[in-house]
Amino acid sequence: MERTLVLVKPDGVQRGLIGEVIARLERRGLRLVAAKFMQVSREFAETHYAIHKGKPFYDGLISYIISAPVMAMVWEGPNAVAAVRQTMGATRPTEAAPGSIRHDFALEVGRNLTHASDTVENGEKEVALWFKQEELVDWKREVDRWVFEK
Ligand SMILES: Nc1ncnc2c1ncn2[C@@H]1O[C@H](COP(=O)(O)OP(=O)(O)OP(=O)(O)O)[C@@H](O)[C@H]1O
Ligand SMILES: [Mg+2]
Repeated sequence: MERTLVLVKPDGVQRGLIGEVIARLERRGLRLVAAKFMQVSREFAETHYAIHKGKPFYDGLISYIISAPVMAMVWEGPNAVAAVRQTMGATRPTEAAPGSIRHDFALEVGRNLTHASDTVENGEKEVALWFKQEELVDWKREVDRWVFEK
């Protein structure tokens, strides 16, 4: 089953939107695999965002992600990566589709509330970076057969 890393970033935590994000992902039919509420260190933030090193927004991005705790989660389902990116909306909230989280709750790219893995391969890498194998819960829901075709 495809898995993706989701973060409710510090602005989402401070604004009390953890429950809103979880509710939308649950309602979509995705299955929660792991979750932890944590303060990210600068060093860990630099590893997570290594791909953005050198970009003009990099320093601001690192300070943003360590400015308060984050809620880190793993969600799974068929096409989980694409489905979650769609539920989050485009990176720039003013370009995010109506009904997406970033459209409905955000205005600025530097305060866009959530992170979601952008490819299946990065999803696997990010899940491994943020969670230990034993923190990932393998479980079934009674409703799975009404949400997952196979
Ligand atoms: N031009 C920018 N100015 C300020 N912050 C930016 C800018 N571009 C990206 N960011 C921040 O860096 C994060 C990572 O950028 P990326 O291009 O990976 O977007 P994304 O994949 O939609 O977001 P994320 O990786 O957080 O899910 C963005 O979510 C945003 O918080
Ligand atoms: Mg990204």
